[in-house]
Amino acid sequence: MSSEIESVLVENRVFPPFANLVKEAAISGMQAYRDLCAEAERAPDEFWGRLARENLRWHKPFTQVLDESEAPFYRWFGDGELNISANCLDKHLDTPTANKTALIFESDDGKVSKVTYKELHARVCELANGLKALGHSKGERAILYMPMSIEAVVAMQACARLGIIHSVVFGGFSSKSLHERTIDVGATLVITADEQVRGGKTIPLKNAVDEALDAGGCEAVRHVVVYRRTGGQVAWKEGRDLWLHDVCANQPPVCEPVPVNAEHPLFILYTSGSTGRPKGVQHSSAGYLLWSLMTVKWTFDAKDSDVFWCTADVGWVTGHTYITYGPLAAGLTQVVFEGVPTYPNAGRFWEMIQRHKVTVFYTAPTAIRSLTKAAESNPDIHPRRYDLNSLRIIGSVGEPINPEAWMWYYTHVGRERCPVLDTWWQTETGAHMITPLPGVTPLKPGSCTLPLPGISMAVVDEAGEDVEHGKGGFLVAKRPWPAMIRTIWGDPERFKSAYFPPELKGYYLAGDGAQRDQDGYFWIMGRIDDVLNVSGHRLGTMEVESALVSHELVAEAAVVGRPDATTGEAVVAFVVLNRSLPEGDDAVAIAKQLRDWVAKEIGPIAKPKDIRFGENLPKTRSGKIMRRLLRVVAKGEQVTQDVSTLENPGILDQLSQAH
Ligand code: PRX
Repeated sequence: MSSEIESVLVENRVFPPFANLVKEAAISGMQAYRDLCAEAERAPDEFWGRLARENLRWHKPFTQVLDESEAPFYRWFGDGELNISANCLDKHLDTPTANKTALIFESDDGKVSKVTYKELHARVCELANGLKALGHSKGERAILYMPMSIEAVVAMQACARLGIIHSVVFGGFSSKSLHERTIDVGATLVITADEQVRGGKTIPLKNAVDEALDAGGCEAVRHVVVYRRTGGQVAWKEGRDLWLHDVCANQPPVCEPVPVNAEHPLFILYTSGSTGRPKGVQHSSAGYLLWSLMTVKWTFDAKDSDVFWCTADVGWVTGHTYITYGPLAAGLTQVVFEGVPTYPNAGRFWEMIQRHKVTVFYTAPTAIRSLTKAAESNPDIHPRRYDLNSLRIIGSVGEPINPEAWMWYYTHVGRERCPVLDTWWQTETGAHMITPLPGVTPLKPGSCTLPLPGISMAVVDEAGEDVEHGKGGFLVAKRPWPAMIRTIWGDPERFKSAYFPPELKGYYLAGDGAQRDQDGYFWIMGRIDDVLNVSGHRLGTMEVESALVSHELVAEAAVVGRPDATTGEAVVAFVVLNRSLPEGDDAVAIAKQLRDWVAKEIGPIAKPKDIRFGENLPKTRSGKIMRRLLRVVAKGEQVTQDVSTLENPGILDQLSQAH
């Protein structure tokens, strides 16, 4: 473990839970939390079985809770059958929730439209019927490449209703990423939109789909269903391309949900690992939904009167769990937002909380940091200018939240009366794992505090032994949990080696470094592998490197992360060209060309912030790139380490120049 991990815990402030929340909360008080944890530890099968029976609607009840016979390929509730869409929508139809607003959609330019649970159910059924009429059925895979919209939620739910496995590709990813994922999942169906609108700009989606499908290898795709968002020009392939409104037209608003096995994959979502291409994280149906729902109830203390707003895009796991599935299963009213936090100005989030009377707000530290900066320089859009009294809980996800950002969020957004829930989890964990609970946990800025009941997180050394509190180590989950990743789509061996290394006693390896303090609180120290976290988005250094070396001018590239005050981490690329070292304007122009290239290959989020050119990279005599040194150079610091093992120590000076 690096020395950085040993050097935390300078934070001593503690904020006890608010009495009103303790009184009202689903888990009320520390003793209630400890009792649940003890129940889960004493009799895990009874604990999870009870939750699954009480909280899910089963088509066929399960008789076995956990099957460990093929560990780490765990099966949960494995002989049960259910339908996920029925659990999110149909179950509300014969209750007062049927006429409650399910989604409040606000478009980029501020238009608001709403659907009730009953209407949402009807729209999901119409699309499901339309897809069925086109011959799509259970087990097929659909790629969804959608703007934030009611239609995106409808498309995901319609797939779930038919047992079609969806794989949502974030609208900011390039057609190349879309192409790779379409092939990897073997998609037969694509659901997209003509264009998306963000920050006053339109960005084509259908064109990117055409480009991806034309690139070859995607012949299995039979239909491309297109939601008309802007009416912008799109190319059309007769027979393959269909408007979403035509697919739904004249379809009955009722569609029998298709029962699937509890372990039937609900979705595949790609995320970056330390090596190779992004991994298709495969999630189950029952276990995933159970934990999505339970965490909405426990972490966010869901109340019927809540207006819930998770600002994530449905292209990320946060949008899956805390927009499309968990909050709907809980019957909540939620806000879905098309745009960006800074348009038309950086007061947009606060204005929307005021307009829609949001009670539970869930966003990312990178947004908080950039809005802090904007608010501190422009008093007109400072949160204090807005009525945020409706808020009762505010949450954070995606990356470590530094204590300064935490305090600003707590003070100016939560007005010192809402707990800040720093929720730690991952694409692979499906839902929250370590998080404060509003009615239970004293808060410490910068700590995600304690694991949820049933979740056995620990910090261990290289041999899987618990490390003492106050010492750094690997963050692991000792026991399986229902929402865990089931496998990497098409690559079970990679699943085993990436998450269950043999030396760690069968524990799930999260890939983060962590330590616990004297109270047992967890402090996450960031990734232990070559995964970067830029604005809460995961990126593999290898992915960016392979994009760079695929450019005709590039001979070699190494990518590292550098701490960044707004985005958490920034991408810094060290590049060797296959021509002479560029200088001045030439270097600036090539750097721009390479940045645009990376945006085209992966997506704008992967663009290097800095590009440094050199005639070579710092390597050991055996040819290994010394990334440790590159990280120091990227920070603009002087290299003080011993560089005598380097083949070419002089190269470090050359690489210090940013372009
Ligand atoms: O490093 C951790 C960081 O984000 C990683 C997971 O990224 P992803 O799969 O994209 O999922 C993000 C949304 C759940 C983790 O390995 N991370 C996430 N939440 C936190 C965090 N780091 C510190 N504190 C958090 N609350």
